[in-house]
Amino acid sequence: MKTAIYPGSFDPITLGHLNIIRRTSTIFDRVVVCIMPNAGKMHPMFTREERVELARRVVSRVVAHLPNVTVETYDGLLAEYAKQFDKAVIVKGLRAGTDFENEFQMALINQKINPELDTMFLTASQKYTFLSSSVVKELAGYGADLTPFVPCEIIEDVRARAMRSE
Ligand code: PNS
Repeated sequence: MKTAIYPGSFDPITLGHLNIIRRTSTIFDRVVVCIMPNAGKMHPMFTREERVELARRVVSRVVAHLPNVTVETYDGLLAEYAKQFDKAVIVKGLRAGTDFENEFQMALINQKINPELDTMFLTASQKYTFLSSSVVKELAGYGADLTPFVPCEIIEDVRARAMRSE
């Protein structure tokens, strides 16, 4: 069984993430969305458990017709996490050249730790190249309409959290 691990901090999951999940699920037998800590993002809007709940809600309602997608979480190295799967590759979305440098470095580090582990990149759909969780959080702080950016199932959660953290 070919497994794709789609890792990220997903703080929160966006329509751009969902687009990558959908496309990946048509290429692989199974997609494991893995919500992980990012050492460079010390102050997430949502706890890891909350991010898992939000992503599961979205995946179960929006991509219910894709039964090969699950949402998991792991608190260690991605390269170690991947070892539990038989044939797994990491899938990441690339929005722009700026993503590439960072992602390329991560892919090489992960392969150094786990030589079996490959990383594949999907180019972001053109309509989401500008989109990131950080942009969503900033817009939410200004009370902007989030419908073009975030799955409708979690808009209220993002809006409420943005208000509380003001
Ligand atoms: O969505 P993000 O924040 O760009 O995702 C980055 C993430 C969470 C995939 C990355 O930080 C990660 O792999 N974290 C787990 C710990 C790890 O394996 N780090 C890489 C080696 S330093």
